[in-house]
Amino acid sequence: MPAASGAAAAARLPVELIRAKRDGEALTAAELRAFIAGVTDGSIPDYQVAAMLMAIYFRGLTDDELGTWADAMVRSGDVLDLAAIPRPKVDKHSTGGVGDKISIPLAPAVAACGVAVPMVSGRGLGHTGGTLDKLESIPGFRGDLDVERFAAQVGQLGVCLIGQTERVAPADRRLYALRDVTGTIESIPLIASSIMSKKLAEGIDALVLDCKVGAGAFMKDATRARALCAAIRAIGHAAGKAVTCVLTDMDAPIGHAVGNALEIAESIDVLSGGGPADTRELTVVLGGEMLLLAGVARTADEGQARIAHALDDGSALAVFRRVVAAQGGDPTVCDRPGEVLPRARHQWPVRAPRDGAIAAIDAEDVGMAALVLGAGRRTKDDVIDPAAGVVLACGLGDRVTAGQPLATLHANLAEDDPRVAAATARFLGAIHLADDAPPPRATRVLETLR
Ligand code: URA
Repeated sequence: MPAASGAAAAARLPVELIRAKRDGEALTAAELRAFIAGVTDGSIPDYQVAAMLMAIYFRGLTDDELGTWADAMVRSGDVLDLAAIPRPKVDKHSTGGVGDKISIPLAPAVAACGVAVPMVSGRGLGHTGGTLDKLESIPGFRGDLDVERFAAQVGQLGVCLIGQTERVAPADRRLYALRDVTGTIESIPLIASSIMSKKLAEGIDALVLDCKVGAGAFMKDATRARALCAAIRAIGHAAGKAVTCVLTDMDAPIGHAVGNALEIAESIDVLSGGGPADTRELTVVLGGEMLLLAGVARTADEGQARIAHALDDGSALAVFRRVVAAQGGDPTVCDRPGEVLPRARHQWPVRAPRDGAIAAIDAEDVGMAALVLGAGRRTKDDVIDPAAGVVLACGLGDRVTAGQPLATLHANLAEDDPRVAAATARFLGAIHLADDAPPPRATRVLETLR
């Protein structure tokens, strides 16, 4: 179906399609494709697109409709053809978390195990960060390669990490912008098709979705997370792609570091066989699932063992070093991250207000504290400070005494800047001290849907 056939290709007018969806009718594949074509070429005006989004918000889409709607979104722009690369091509997508730097150790580790990872990442918005912003904190790193260079690097090094171009799923750009201002973001079929339209355009064979669940996540509970996973898997299957979904806990931030350069340093620790236990666990578990989907491991356990080995024997770090150099970055970041990465002029400890045990750390509030210091964006046009952020010095279940540092704030701000006080208050609001706290969960992994 040509992308720009426009609304005129449908026998029914847009208003009739909106009415039909409003009344709970399933639309035909031709009607859905024509509607998305009209979204892409601009022939359907904003008010009709918005009305359709609201009708879908209330009525949903059947699995067949969802598969067609998402496929039409994929075909609204460029679809990469990576068939010439002989390795299996598998990507990972996260629904977004605080301190979620997992793609950075994961992609090189998976590539070191023989699987190609064509990774197109987003930028951070609100309390969650974006992989591309983190990578761009490495001096010289370019995430804006064209598709030809992207494909060539995936072929040569097994991994390339870039941002989205204007040409990937343009229908999603328009739909997302309208959803943002019409109260239609929180719709499972619309979220699923938005995510998958961009992932399927990468030319992958299979996908692992890290679906975050909890206070710091889009999906606050497991029931909604499972519904999103079911929709994503339905779209994947309609496109002939295997999708594994892993539900993971996003109540507390991942690892210790929240902020772009700070998270790169922590990722290099993981790539060097160390790093916080939860960050390594997520890397190993998600990587294991990617190797299983790629067919290079027979079981998830075998896949996990291979990823752990690649982190421990230096092969994952060696891939990362080549990727950083190929994308214009300073590869010595792998050896001396503290010297190469930007460092904030000021660091301040945040101290415990009283004795107690850490019962909860609200990830969203920690993400907002980092944002206030300059690490994140309130709107998509904000400029971020790569050096800013928060490094936690405590974890769930820890006992602390009054005055003990709970975290260090990093910022290029004067001490009396009101943003420092605001970030301190926001951070302290994230820490729930109790007389006693249960031991933290042994794992971040809640459920795997293969
Ligand atoms: N991420 C996306 O790409 N789209 C959504 O709708 C929500 C999260």
